[in-house]
Amino acid sequence: MIDKSLVKRRFKKSLTTYDDNAIVQKEMAAKLIELLPEKEFSSVFEIGCSTGILTKQISENVKFDQIWVNDIVAESKKYIDNILLDYTFISGDIETISIDKKFDLIVSNACLQWCNDINKVIDKLYGCLNKCGVLAVSIFGDMNLKEIKNIFDIKEKTYVMSELQECLKIYKTYNVIEETVELEFDCLKDILQHIKYTGANSLKECTLTKTVLKNNEEQYRENFSKNNILILTYNPVYIIIKK
Ligand SMILES: C[S@@+](CC[C@H](N)C(=O)[O-])C[C@H]1O[C@@H](n2cnc3c(N)ncnc32)[C@H](O)[C@@H]1O
Repeated sequence: MIDKSLVKRRFKKSLTTYDDNAIVQKEMAAKLIELLPEKEFSSVFEIGCSTGILTKQISENVKFDQIWVNDIVAESKKYIDNILLDYTFISGDIETISIDKKFDLIVSNACLQWCNDINKVIDKLYGCLNKCGVLAVSIFGDMNLKEIKNIFDIKEKTYVMSELQECLKIYKTYNVIEETVELEFDCLKDILQHIKYTGANSLKECTLTKTVLKNNEEQYRENFSKNNILILTYNPVYIIIKK
């Protein structure tokens, strides 16, 4: 089970450092908008907005009349206040909040992998779409941060493409695209700082002493480096469903 209070704490703490470190998430937000089958919707609902990287993309590239924005971290609202003039903020866990409205576009970037049951959430969101509505989400696949999971023995709940494809078969029209992106770092400390600054260190509470860092750095360099540069893999997965 995902520790939601840890997720909330870590993402709240990373709000001030997120934008400068969310390199891959920024590319994912732009791609998600690119993948939309149309760019004009009457009502839009964004889930897991954080500092508004995707919100900004929506405001600049999508025409809409009304927009609702959500995050489990209530403090995200003050960032969205700087992007949107007229919107409704819904704070809370998307897995448990009740949504008594229907939308033409439901969109979410790099968030729903923090849910315990993504199939249930997709089903819930599909139920909140108007006829011909679009659900566009990006999540991370099972190769995401694979080096870190290997070194620190983290058993993350991940989404294998074949399993996802199988679950999505129940929807009439859908498309799934997977990518891998490699970032380069000089040392393990920089990698861990990068992960911490994006809030993605919510998988496991662990204390990193200098010795732990040194021992793991050797192992990391041995297994996951190219020309002595440390590699960190991201595995974005985009899912577009049309009702
Ligand atoms: C990696 S950030 C992505 C932020 C933003 N979507 C972007 O484009 O950069 C993930 C966000 O999802 C939020 N989040 C995580 N689990 C959530 C949940 N169950 N319900 C709502 N928001 C959630 C976090 O608080 C965080 O702000």
